Amino acid sequence: MPSSAPTFVLFGATGDLARRMLFPSLYFLHLEGLLTDGQRIIGASRSERTSEDFRAQMEDWVRERTGEHFDAEKFASFAERVTYLSVNANELSDFERLKEEIGGSDQEAVFYLSTSPAIFAATTQNLKAVGLSHSPNRIVVEKPIGHDFSSNVAINDALADAFDENRTFRIDHYLGKETVQNLIALRFGNTIFEPLWSATSIDSVEITIAEAVGVEGRGDYYDDYGAIRDMVQNHLLQLLCLVAMEPPASLDAEAVRNEKVKVLKTLAPITAENVESKTVRGQYSEGFDEKGGKAPDYLTDADRKSSNTESFVAITAELRNWRWKGVPFYIQTGKRMGERKTRIVISFRPVPHSIFSGAVSANELIITLQPQEEIRLQIMSKRPGLTSGAMSLQELGLNLSLSDHLPEDQQRRRIAYEQLILDALNNNPALFVQRDEQEAAWRWIDGIVAAWDQQNMKPKSYKAGTSGPSAKHTLTERNEHSWYD
Ligand code: BG6
Repeated sequence: MPSSAPTFVLFGATGDLARRMLFPSLYFLHLEGLLTDGQRIIGASRSERTSEDFRAQMEDWVRERTGEHFDAEKFASFAERVTYLSVNANELSDFERLKEEIGGSDQEAVFYLSTSPAIFAATTQNLKAVGLSHSPNRIVVEKPIGHDFSSNVAINDALADAFDENRTFRIDHYLGKETVQNLIALRFGNTIFEPLWSATSIDSVEITIAEAVGVEGRGDYYDDYGAIRDMVQNHLLQLLCLVAMEPPASLDAEAVRNEKVKVLKTLAPITAENVESKTVRGQYSEGFDEKGGKAPDYLTDADRKSSNTESFVAITAELRNWRWKGVPFYIQTGKRMGERKTRIVISFRPVPHSIFSGAVSANELIITLQPQEEIRLQIMSKRPGLTSGAMSLQELGLNLSLSDHLPEDQQRRRIAYEQLILDALNNNPALFVQRDEQEAAWRWIDGIVAAWDQQNMKPKSYKAGTSGPSAKHTLTERNEHSWYD
């Protein structure tokens, strides 16, 4: 008898992401009673090992990641759901065994491909060949889904051959982050922001994803991708879409996707003519890590003799539509930038005329996603106390974060994958990326990369532990703005 709960099959079950994120997320879902009775998990990867050995290894991964939340008894009941199967993506007979392990093709299944995209096509073809790709079964895939527009199309075509678009769940883990979803709540669950949410009241938008870590043993992958493909094409553009999109008619995947695609299509192309005034590339040199210790340069980290790959990129993006006409969207991301900080800053226009003594700063809405989650509105208020002259003002931060008001048992910082895995199990695609979003994003990115090549624009050096190359300031200063940091 098939179980009504879909079986979760994780390809790449011994990989880095599975260890650090996916199994700990599944454990948390189990801990919170969000996995249904009878919901099974099959870990699949090439190497041979018994389910027993696999569960023992998984216990170490989960224990390490979940720390004080690890509960041996709860883990034991979680582990009962998990079995392991050795599967070679190119071996049809392995998929026959997988089908048996799942309990036949009548059993609903979710296939999560946490593997190299090089084996996506073989995996989905073999799932199809053994009769496991029919509705309602679905696949979940991770980036990188291609290196540019055409390779993205090729991968998506291969996936589409076995799974319909509405059963293809593309992960951008930023969309699973609590504050990112809170941004949707803030914009569309309140009336006070929407009338202000345009060029009439907003002067500029800044989106920063700064990382303290370096390339960390991922040199082979990273040197081929660089910051623009690794971070801008996906996470940064997704954040930009959520800030800039029109209110969708509903939270349906389709409705949200349509609005995001419109934003991506209105991004003004960056070409050889303006690439030098709109973008800055950087690569870190030797410097310091977060704790003040020595940090090697990019070439050492990535194990390369020479490289023109950027570990930092800043871009002035412009949207060609009524709402955002003339509002620069400054986006930046980089590795070894001193501290980990993901932040969106909406800078409002200054008051047209000041009646106070001293400066009146423009309002800012600051949405911090990492390391802590916080939403703050900077407003001006009277400096307290008696005044003998003109009234003077001070800046005050109104904290709009929900986290301070949550009951203690809801205060654990969730792993972004928890929500996304739960949605995939529940067949809810709203927080996943659709094919045409990806294609529109790649087209814009390809234009920038081609312009860099045409102008032979090399990355500028920045010291590890700093906020990127100083040239990034020319982007904002050109419009008499400055980076928030
Ligand atoms: C990944 C990138 O998608 O996101 C990594 O490949 C990056 O290079 C990571 O470090 C950042 O994610 P987070 O959630 O730690 O900000």
